[in-house]
Amino acid sequence: MAVLPIRKFGDEILRQPAEAVTQFDSALQKLIDDMVDTMYAAPGVGLAANQVGVARRVAVIDLSVGKRRGELHVLVNPEIVETSGEITEEEGCLSVPDLVETVRRPESVTARYLDRSGEERRIFGQGLMARALSHEIDHLNGRLFVDRLRGLKRDRILKKIQKLAKAGMW
Ligand code: NI
Repeated sequence: MAVLPIRKFGDEILRQPAEAVTQFDSALQKLIDDMVDTMYAAPGVGLAANQVGVARRVAVIDLSVGKRRGELHVLVNPEIVETSGEITEEEGCLSVPDLVETVRRPESVTARYLDRSGEERRIFGQGLMARALSHEIDHLNGRLFVDRLRGLKRDRILKKIQKLAKAGMW
């Protein structure tokens, strides 16, 4: 198991729609284990494979950041099947470090996915779990939370990133 470097905003791989997983082999198991290690080390509550440079449809979510058993979700080829409501809350991303903004997301999300052994499963999330599901599935489609911002909020965060990049701090 290993902690992998996390790609930042501006890296092209974050913009590529990731490819579906078809083989549940040892390479996939290693990728998942490395992603979990990387998420906990960051620390973060979610991570998508393209954030560690692998354009495959794999995401991990653990709202407890490893503190509680049974809260780790490994989602292979996840798809949103239903959403309801809308809620605007503060949100960040390991690929946009130290910058947060309020983002509108569904209040509840139902997704279907395959677990790490290829079994079909469903998950229903509300609040922070709905936000995490929406955020990570966005990643797999090449979308970042800044893309969901409009107007002043969007300009503000993009300017901060530009400023950090100019100073060689990105
Ligand atoms: Ni993210």
